[in-house]
Amino acid sequence: MGNVQLNDKVFEIYITQPEIAKRVKLLAAQINLDYKNKLPVFIGVLNGSFRFMADLMKEINLDCSIEFIKVSSYNGGTKSTGDVLEILGLDADLKGKDVIIVEDIIDTGKTLTYLLSTLKPLQPASIKVITLLLKPDAIKTQFPEIAYIGFEISNDFVVGYGMDYKHLGRNLNDIYRWSNA
Ligand code: IMP
Ligand code: MG
Repeated sequence: MGNVQLNDKVFEIYITQPEIAKRVKLLAAQINLDYKNKLPVFIGVLNGSFRFMADLMKEINLDCSIEFIKVSSYNGGTKSTGDVLEILGLDADLKGKDVIIVEDIIDTGKTLTYLLSTLKPLQPASIKVITLLLKPDAIKTQFPEIAYIGFEISNDFVVGYGMDYKHLGRNLNDIYRWSNA
C-alpha cells in the first residue's frame, strides 16, 4: 500500500483489493440474476482483463463459456494511440449467443468501438459489456451496450489489478493512479 514506483512514474493507492472484491461480488450477483437460464459467452479483453475475469468468474454460477480476445491501443504508455490492433483473434462461434465483453477499463471508448464492430457481424443474440473501470471524462461515445460498471473514476492513468504502465504493474493487488496524467 502507499505509493509504488513503476519505471519513471510514482503511483498512489486509489482502489484497494477489498473494495474491488466487494464490487466484483455485487456485479456478479447482478449478472447471475440477469442471465438466469441463459448460457452467456464471456469474452475477456487481454491483457488487462485477466484478473477481473478470474475474480468475476469465481462468483458466476451460470453455465457459461469463457473466451479471450487480445487487442492493443496503448503501446505500453499512458495515452491511447487511437489505433486498435487485434493481436489474438477469437475462435468461438457467437451466432445466437448472449455475449458479455469483459473489460478492465474503458477510457476513450475506441477499443470498445472496435470490438463491437468486430463482434456484431458474428450475429450474437445480444452483446453487453462489463467494465471494472470507466472514465466518464475521457469517453468519446455513449455505448448502450455498457450494462455493468465497477467504478467510475477520474481521468487519471491507473495501474494494478491487471492494468499496466510500460508492461509493469499488472500483478499489483490494488489499483493505483498517476495523478499528473
Ligand atoms: P480506450 O480504447 O481508450 O477506451 O482504452 C481502452 C484500453 O486501454 C483498456 O482496455 C486498457 O487496456 C487501456 N487503458 C486505458 N486507460 C488505461 C489506464 O488508465 N491504465 C492502464 N491501461 C489503460
Ligand atoms: Mg483492456
